[in-house]
Order: sequence, then C-alpha cells, then structure tokens
Amino acid sequence: MTRLPKSMRREAPFGAEVTELHPAHNRATMNRLVVISNRVPLPDQGPRAGGLAVALDGLMEKRGGMWFGWSGIVSPNATSTPVKVAHHDGVDYATTDLTAEEHDRYYNGFSNGVLWPLLHSMTDLIQYDRTDAQIYRDVNLRLAADVQALIGPDDLIWVHDYHLLPLPAALRAAGVSNPIGFFLHIPFCTPETLDAVPDMAELLRGLLASDLIGFQTEGDMANFANCAVQFCDAARGPGNTLLVDGRRVLLGVFPVEIEAREFAAMAAANARKLPAVRLRQSLTGQTLVLGLDRLDPTKGLLQRIAGLRRLLETEPVWKRRMTLLQVAAISRKEVGSYRALRAALDRESGNLNADFGEPDWLPLRMISHGVDRATAAGFMRCARVGLVTPLRDGMNLVAKEFVAAQNPADPGVLILSRFAGAAQQLDAALLVNPHDTDAMAEAMTQALTMKLAERRERWQSLYGAIENRTPLAWGRMFVAALLRGAVRGGGRLELVENEDHQAMANAG
Ligand code: F6P
Repeated sequence: MTRLPKSMRREAPFGAEVTELHPAHNRATMNRLVVISNRVPLPDQGPRAGGLAVALDGLMEKRGGMWFGWSGIVSPNATSTPVKVAHHDGVDYATTDLTAEEHDRYYNGFSNGVLWPLLHSMTDLIQYDRTDAQIYRDVNLRLAADVQALIGPDDLIWVHDYHLLPLPAALRAAGVSNPIGFFLHIPFCTPETLDAVPDMAELLRGLLASDLIGFQTEGDMANFANCAVQFCDAARGPGNTLLVDGRRVLLGVFPVEIEAREFAAMAAANARKLPAVRLRQSLTGQTLVLGLDRLDPTKGLLQRIAGLRRLLETEPVWKRRMTLLQVAAISRKEVGSYRALRAALDRESGNLNADFGEPDWLPLRMISHGVDRATAAGFMRCARVGLVTPLRDGMNLVAKEFVAAQNPADPGVLILSRFAGAAQQLDAALLVNPHDTDAMAEAMTQALTMKLAERRERWQSLYGAIENRTPLAWGRMFVAALLRGAVRGGGRLELVENEDHQAMANAG
C-alpha cells in the first residue's frame, strides 16, 4: 500500500468536521475535493493552459484539495510506478507514471483508439484490441488502488473523462464509500453505436458506481441514459435519475464554460503584440479566416479544406482576397487514425494550394505546431471569420473563446458546426453541417460579406450567452449537485447540505 506523506493524511473523522460546519467559504468546514483525471496539470509545468485547470485549482484552493492522475511520464521499463506527491497553494498533487505498455494500450490503444472515436460516433476509426481493453481496465484498477490510500473519509471525489470510465466501481471495490462524481468532457453516443465495442456494458456499470454523472449537453445525457437502460438494467427514476442495483444515480448537464471577460482582455492585449502584428502585416489586405484545432479526426479538418475548395471553385472572386490560417496542432501521434489524418491533411492542403495558389498568394496556411493561448487569443481578434466545424465535439471551447476575443465594435463571424456541444448555447453563430460542402462554402461567403450591423447583432447575442458564466461557477454547480446527489442517494452527507445550498446560491 502507498505510504501517505504527512500533509496528505486526513485524520479527522467525518462527523468531527461536520459538527464544526459554519460559513461555506471556510476551508476547514468544507469537504476536501479530490480530482482524478488522466492528465494532471502540475504547478511546475508553467502557466495554466486553460480555464478548466484554473477552475479546478480555484475550487480546490478554496476547500482544500488533491489532484491525482498520470504524471505525463512514460517509464519504459518500470513495472511498478510509485505515487509522487507535491504541494502548491493548498492543493496536493499526486501522480504516477505509466509503463510503456500501459501508455501504449490504455492511453493510445483503448482510450484514444476505441473510446474516443466510439463516443464521438465515428465507429469506422475504432481499432479494437482485446488486450488493450484488458490493460485499460487494469490501469483503472491500479489507479484506484493508488489513490484510495490518499482519500480521507470526508473527501468528495470528482473523476474526469473517458480514460477513467471504470474508476468509480474500482474505487468502490477498493473500499471507497465517499461521494463520487464523474464528468464526461466528450460526447456520448447512442445505444446502437455503443454496441460496436465489446463489453461496453461492463464499463458503463463501472461508471454507474458514481453518485453523479455530468455531461456537456442534454443529448449526451439522454444517450447515456438510454445505454444504461438498454445494457445495464438501469431503470429511470424521478427527475434525471437512474436506479441501478437499488441505488440512485443522479445525471446532470453542466456545459463547460470559459472566463469570457479575461479572455477578451487577453485577446485585446495580444492583438497588439508581435505575433499578431506580423500575421496582419503578412496578409497584405486579405481577410483572415481562422481555424484553431488539435489535429484530430473529430475536428472536421478535411471537410473544412473541401469547403474552402468549393468556395474558390464557385466564387473565384475570393482568390487573393482571403486566407485561411489553419492551426492543426499535432496530437496523439502514436494513434493510427491521427497519423493517417496528418498524411491526408498534408496531401489535401498541398493540392488546394497547388490548384488555386498564385505566385504571391496561397489560400491556405496550414501549420501543425500549436500556438500558445495568448497568441491564439490575439489571432482570434484579428480574424474576420472563425471556423469551428467539428464532425462531433463535446463542447469546443475554441468557439466560446473566438466569441470572447472579438472587438465588440467590429466583431468577426463564427461559423460553428451544429454537431459541437457549443452550438446549443451559441445558436446566433452561422450553424453548419460540416459534411455539406456546399453549405460550408455558402457559410464562408455569408460570413465574409456580412454587414457590420448583423455582425454586431449576432456577436451581442453570442457574447450574452457566455459573458456571465465562468469555469469556477461550472465547478461549483457540479460539486453542489454532487452533494445533493449523495444526500438523495442515501449517502451520509446530510450534515453538509448547508454547503450545497450556499454553493448553489453562489454559483450564479
Ligand atoms: O476532453 C478531451 C481532452 O481529453 C481534453 O481534456 C484535452 O485537452 C484534449 O482532449 C487533449 O487530450 P490528450 O490528453 O490526449 O492530449
């Protein structure tokens, strides 16, 4: 068993803490939050990359917390990887390395070669291997065994994403009876699609050991509930609940948010900095169309190039008048479908530029290394059109960031796939079906020619949908619902329901 460092031991019995429960913002009176995710954004890795890490840090700093997961290190020969710990700003960080085989089979093979395409309903990309599935389950068991020794009796546990579907049941099997919440950052597919992968019922049963399961959209939640009913003998309970093995599991929709005002300020500041200035100068009067994605089959990058090709075929007037800058940051490059996509993108972008380019103009600038968040924000503010056209996406925070980055006096236009979770909130964008090449080309024309009054009107509606929501409020809502779910599920948290009410009131 893992030996606990002193700072991480939680000696106080649950009751002792609760009898002292008073104001909601007093760390000593709040249940500590244990976040478990595949990747852990360690404090020594520099500034936080996204709002989510900041939000979870913020929650944990307030109530005390621990973040546990993979260190990001692959130990080529290690067969046992001890837990390493660090402490920063009231938060403990505990991580474990993956062995080369675990990384290859749990992360690349099953998480990203099977679950990622499956849950995005892209079954043609699934590369199922029975040993990968077994090692995925084994890694979850190991992570549960590693972390259970660090969990105190009064902690709240919040597990994140598709890498860890069986972790709630693995934690229960390891003797953890604390409230467990799970949030899925990516979409959930229909029962017919889920059936494509063997033994998914077992993984869903593992997930159903949670007290609360959160999704990005109503559609994802409905798909999950249908799968649980069909494959796991779950019954629908009152409200958004499922009844499984005599227990009640609460489901909920919690769309992930960004810090819109902060992002807007970052965009305004970075639009004046060198990278954005150089980008603008290089455009020599052409209108900037921008795509910022990871190089991922779900992002619809080939369909985007096809849309641009159709635009230039049908409306050659746009030659020399616009440029698409597409950042497609290399990601998960050991997974076959990602390597194949890279090759296809290189081919298609080369063909497009060869077919339509001029000696002094190319329609597409494709780059495969990422740009940092601040630079990206500056680029977004310089763009007249933002292309966020995934084939399927849990939420897509780039869509929200593009809106936040715009100059309110002269905003750009967002073209958004209706298959991104963000489309539920950002319905004043130009919503497209990325498979419809003509519709993609038409949306680009509409965006490039849109008058200022309409751009402003649409932008105001879009910004209104995000400006008063924050990742911190998102996290607080989830934790509040977890407390509520644990209470209703017959858990032992009735004495901290005050905190639940306070959090709901403050979550805004
Ligand atoms: O939810 C999808 C997600 O896991 C994000 O959390 C993350 O930013 C992205 O995919 C990149 O994933 P990876 O950890 O595989 O690089």
